[in-house]
Amino acid sequence: MKDSSKKEDSREGDDTMNIVLLGPPGAGKGTQAKRISNRFGIPHISTGDMLREAISSKSELGKKVATIVEKGDLVTDELMIQLVRDRISKDDASKGFILDGFPRTTVQAKSLRNMLKEKEDKIDSAVLIDVSEEVVVERISSRRVCPNCGKVYNLLSLKPENDCICDECGSELIQRDDDKPETVRDRYEVYINNTKEVIKFYRSQGKLKTFDGAKEIDDLSKSIISYLESL
Ligand code: AP5
Ligand code: MG
Repeated sequence: MKDSSKKEDSREGDDTMNIVLLGPPGAGKGTQAKRISNRFGIPHISTGDMLREAISSKSELGKKVATIVEKGDLVTDELMIQLVRDRISKDDASKGFILDGFPRTTVQAKSLRNMLKEKEDKIDSAVLIDVSEEVVVERISSRRVCPNCGKVYNLLSLKPENDCICDECGSELIQRDDDKPETVRDRYEVYINNTKEVIKFYRSQGKLKTFDGAKEIDDLSKSIISYLESL
């Protein structure tokens, strides 16, 4: 049960865990979100993954957003807000969620706050994984993904047994369409221009917690998970 007498930032008496993960492209949001999701039993909701699925299935949404995503621009707030509103109202998100890639603008952040307010709920913490542009470009150029099961690898830091094949399902690994070096720089700029206001938004509410994303994957998971356990 929720207890309105508790202070806004406390999770005491709160039966949901709602987390947003912020950070530049290639920071490791997806990698860490999967681990957090396994630890707390809440769904990992990646708006980027949802858009890529829509694009590969050639749905109406996919047709609308394909060019925008490939260029690394932002999809409209209206479409993204609707997508997230629908997703977080599904049963598997009733105990909370970990949002990866949303919100990316203040309009999205305020809208998320209002959607949760309608359910007398709130974001518990905004976890920022911070890395430099140089690290981002290196990580993304060596990222490989499985188009079948979605597993994400890195040819430098998280190598598959065979550079071209998914360890889990045997499919051939690919590079994302938006992972070309010139698009990665554009995506980084789009991130800097839009997300700094989102970071301010959560900082002003005392909800922002920043982690050094240059750390090794396992060490970073331990730090983030122990912080979330302490909430
Ligand atoms: P999205 O899919 O959200 O992409 P992104 O934010 O650019 O982030 P990435 O998925 O590229 O990186 P990541 O942080 O998840 O890193 P990962 O864990 O894979 O969005 C794509 C597009 O969709 C946007 O450009 C936009 O067009 C659209 N979109 C999505 N949401 C939107 C929204 N809300 N509004 C408007 N438009 C939206 O790790 C990267 C690599 O590094 C991997 O190879 C991994 O193995 C490796 N790695 C991870 N952590 C480490 C580590 N600590 N050390 C070494 N290697 C590591
Ligand atoms: Mg991702």
